[in-house]
Amino acid sequence: MKQQLESIRNIALQAIEKAEDHQTLENLRIKYLGKKGELTAILKQMGKLSAEERPIIGQLANDIRSAIEETFAVRVSHLKETLLLQKLKHETIDVTLPGKRRELGAKHPLSIVLDEIKEIFIGMGFDIVEGPEVESDYYNFEALNIPKNHPARDTQDTFYINENVVLRTQTSPVQIRTMETRQPPIRIISPGRVYRSDAVDATHSPLFHQIEGLVVDKGITFADLKGTLETFVKRLYGENSVVRFRPHHFPFTEPSAEVDVQCFSCHGDGCRLCKQEGWIEILGCGMVHPKVLKNCGIDPEVFSGFALGMGLERVVMRRYNIDDMRLFYENDIRFLKQF
Ligand code: DAH
Repeated sequence: MKQQLESIRNIALQAIEKAEDHQTLENLRIKYLGKKGELTAILKQMGKLSAEERPIIGQLANDIRSAIEETFAVRVSHLKETLLLQKLKHETIDVTLPGKRRELGAKHPLSIVLDEIKEIFIGMGFDIVEGPEVESDYYNFEALNIPKNHPARDTQDTFYINENVVLRTQTSPVQIRTMETRQPPIRIISPGRVYRSDAVDATHSPLFHQIEGLVVDKGITFADLKGTLETFVKRLYGENSVVRFRPHHFPFTEPSAEVDVQCFSCHGDGCRLCKQEGWIEILGCGMVHPKVLKNCGIDPEVFSGFALGMGLERVVMRRYNIDDMRLFYENDIRFLKQF
C-alpha cells in the first residue's frame, strides 16, 4: 500500500507540474483528490491494515494529500500568471501605428456669410432675435398691413397649415413680435428660414433664408436708414462699394425703397454677373408704416423707425459665384468642402 501511495504521489506531482491549462488541472484534481479519486480509493482500504500499520500509512496518505494540494496550488497560481501575461501581451496597443483619419466638418457657406452679417450688425449695436417659423396669419400678414385680399399676398405663395396658421413667408413678423414685447429704443436683426410654395429651380427654393432688420426710436429718419445700410454694405462688400436707393412699395413701410449695389465686376457698365444692369438688388427697406407701429402699441407721433429685409442665399451666391441655389440644400460634401 505504501508503494502504491508513493507511486500515486510521483505520478500525480509530475502530471500536475506538466499541466498547461486549467481544465487539465481540474481533471487531475478530481482524479487524485476527488471523492472518487485514486487517493480516496486507497484510503478506503485502510480497514484491512493492522493497528500498527494504520497510523503510519495514514500519516503517509495525509502527507501525500498535502503535497499534491500544495503542488496543485502552486501550479494554479503559476498558470494564472502566465495566462495574464499572455493576455496583456495580446492587448498591447501599438502607439506607433498611424491613427484613423476623420473627416472634419466645416461651416456651411450660408452660415459663414450669415455670421459675417450678424457681426456687422452687432458691431452697430443691434441684437439678434428669432421668431417662430410656423406663424399666425395675423403676424405674417395682418399686423404688417397686408389684409386679406391684398395683392401682396399673391406674390408670396403661402403654405397654409390652416386658415389662420401659415409657414412664415418672410421674417417681417418678427418685427411685430419684437415691438409687442420691447420698448424703444429697438435695434434688432432677425435671421431665419422662410417658406414659399415655389417650384424648385436654380434661383428658387420653397425654403430659403431672410434677414430682417428693425430700428425704432424717437427721431429715426430715412437718413438713419441710408447711413446704416451704406455702412453695412461697405463692411460686407468693401469700402469702395457704391449703393443706390430706388423707390419701391411694401405694405409695411412708407416710404419704401430697394437697395442696389453697383456691380463689383463691371462697376456699372453692365456685364453677365449683373445681367447687363450695372446694379445688383440686395434688399428691401423703408420707414416703418405708422399703422404697423400702432398695431404694436407704439405711438407713431412719438416714435419712428426703419425696417429692412434681405435674402441670404442671393448674397452668398454672389459672394462665392454659385449659380445654382439647390447646391445649398443638397449637402454634397464635394460642394461643401470648397468653403
Ligand atoms: N418682407 C419683404 C419680403 O419678403 C422684405 C422686406 C422689405 C422687409 C422691406 C422689410 C422691408 O422689413 O422694410 O419681400
